[in-house]
Amino acid sequence: MGSLLVDDIGELVTNVAGTGDGGPLGLRRDAAVLIEDGRIAWVGPARYAPAADRRVDARGGAVLPGFVDSHAHLVFAGDRAAEFAARMAGEPYTGGGIRTTVGATRAASDGQLRATVRRLVGEALRQGTTTIETKSGYGLTVADEARSLRIAAEVTAETTFLGAHVVPAEYAGRPDDYVGLVCGPMLAAAAPYARWVDVFCERGAFDADHARAILTVGQAAGLGVRLHANQLGPGPGVQLGVELGAASVDHCTHLSDADVDALAGSPTVATLLPGAEFSTRSPYPDARRLLDAGVTVALATDCNPGSSYTSSMPFCVALAVREMRMTPAEAVWAATAGGARALRRDDVGVLRPGARADLIVLDAPSHLHLAYRPGVPLIRQVLHNGVPQCRS
Ligand code: NIG
Ligand code: FE
Repeated sequence: MGSLLVDDIGELVTNVAGTGDGGPLGLRRDAAVLIEDGRIAWVGPARYAPAADRRVDARGGAVLPGFVDSHAHLVFAGDRAAEFAARMAGEPYTGGGIRTTVGATRAASDGQLRATVRRLVGEALRQGTTTIETKSGYGLTVADEARSLRIAAEVTAETTFLGAHVVPAEYAGRPDDYVGLVCGPMLAAAAPYARWVDVFCERGAFDADHARAILTVGQAAGLGVRLHANQLGPGPGVQLGVELGAASVDHCTHLSDADVDALAGSPTVATLLPGAEFSTRSPYPDARRLLDAGVTVALATDCNPGSSYTSSMPFCVALAVREMRMTPAEAVWAATAGGARALRRDDVGVLRPGARADLIVLDAPSHLHLAYRPGVPLIRQVLHNGVPQCRS
């Protein structure tokens, strides 16, 4: 593969706290990055840069770690544009549309699902996402959940079993029976393809007892825990996640003081998904309250056909800054290092020797421009595993 030097960097975001400018982004100027065999081999002042076989000229642009999108639902068929239009005309979001996507997903071929997943992963990559998590949850039969995860595992190691997304129509009025299926044969079929287990713990989906049962057997099967919690209203999800040692509790839109205290005293990350509030016209989560309490915050897209059909991490960064009072630095950290924490990864979301060589080059001199220039395609180049993905 040879070595590759990235130089003429206007600003380097390393996320190595205490280095460079001394802040959490570890900002460096006049830096260069050497890549060997898909890994970062060296970071230092450009004037001391070692010789390399090839060069990427950042032309004064900012260089950041690739985005780590720790929450997406990419295995589905169909879309719900009409549901979106109805919401924009005043209808509320309830999560009920999930069953529409379940019907379309069950009817789709493997090839159709695979094409959608690959299209969305490619779309995300072009916008700087070099690590993406994806969930099942639109199959809701043993066979459809297993195939959703099998297809997801072709493109990412971060796969999550979300058999407990909603109770499917054929189990209406029999949630205990469905939870039994999820905990038994469905988990057994899904686990070989999954790293994580997740539950939509919400009124109208799964209550705390069901969520606890599913997450506990998932843990016993070797899966890590993450949770959809407190999205549509207050509830037990966040504290249940903290109690079970979840890597992340996601949404966190409706939190009590006790929820915030529980998160602050734990290693569990709060993953905020502002695309969902944007697309459901709902109040945004209070990121400032979480950050000021010392909670680790991640940002992710929640890319799915119902509540947040965006694969754009830059869009989420801009929303977090404008609508959730995060500083640009906090939002960029949350979309990179924060996502890595939410996935318990130390090889991504950071630019230091040994880390995976996932870098983005901006068509702008600093990370501030991601929020300052919303909606503008600022990602000039993406390097994934040290390989340039597109040429400017
Ligand atoms: O994270 N909340 C549950 N699941 C998705 C929505 C899925 C859908 O509406 O299809 C979410 O927002
Ligand atoms: Fe989600």
